Amino acid sequence: MALHDVRLRINGTEYTGRVEARKTLADFIREDCGLTGTHLGCEHGVCGACTILMNGEAVRSCLLFAVQADGAELMTVEGLADGDRLHPIQQAYWEHHALQCGFCTPGFLMTSLVFLRDHPHPTEREIREGLAGNLCRCTGYQNIVAAVAAAAEALASGAHPDFFPAPARPTASVEQIEATEDAVPAAHGAPADMQGDGATGAKKAGRRGARGATTPRGTARRTRKPKG
Ligand code: FES
Ligand code: FES
Repeated sequence: MALHDVRLRINGTEYTGRVEARKTLADFIREDCGLTGTHLGCEHGVCGACTILMNGEAVRSCLLFAVQADGAELMTVEGLADGDRLHPIQQAYWEHHALQCGFCTPGFLMTSLVFLRDHPHPTEREIREGLAGNLCRCTGYQNIVAAVAAAAEALASGAHPDFFPAPARPTASVEQIEATEDAVPAAHGAPADMQGDGATGAKKAGRRGARGATTPRGTARRTRKPKG
């Protein structure tokens, strides 16, 4: 099987690796880069657990191939906190008990980040619509909505000017992705009737975990330390 070189940046650090064309971006991030904060639930674009930012926009990393992200700037949940200092959105989730098992939380946090960047003063309805593409089996969503509303207030206060990623910017990689636009779903707005079988997703995640135990982790080469 032919291997392809991939070079991209995640949370300010450059990673390079050689991958099969069929390797998903989620698997590359988790297995090759060792960043396991990005979770895999359904693995077919329904649950939102794998949401990350690519060139400033939320995408589902289970539906992208690693080779499609060559040259891209990525942000995962590991990029939110500044050392021990939680991002204001993480702080709001913590304070409002917006998670239970936490499996869905990385995806919700990354979706919330882009949503609040683009909707700094959201109504409750807008929050619910903005998060509609992420599924949670534990919380009933109420506390997640409350947390995002609280985070919006905290961020709108101007006390946290540097906590949003830059909006999408045109790069060679973006043009490459746009060429396959139909295969790259946005993280927001999955149809309401696409309620995936979470039990199946959990079993698949379990199998993936077992498989991951035999897969060499962190095989991508990290070529630069993160900023700060
Ligand atoms: S794991 Fe990607 S959307 Fe569910
Ligand atoms: S907190 Fe358990 S799935 Fe959301």
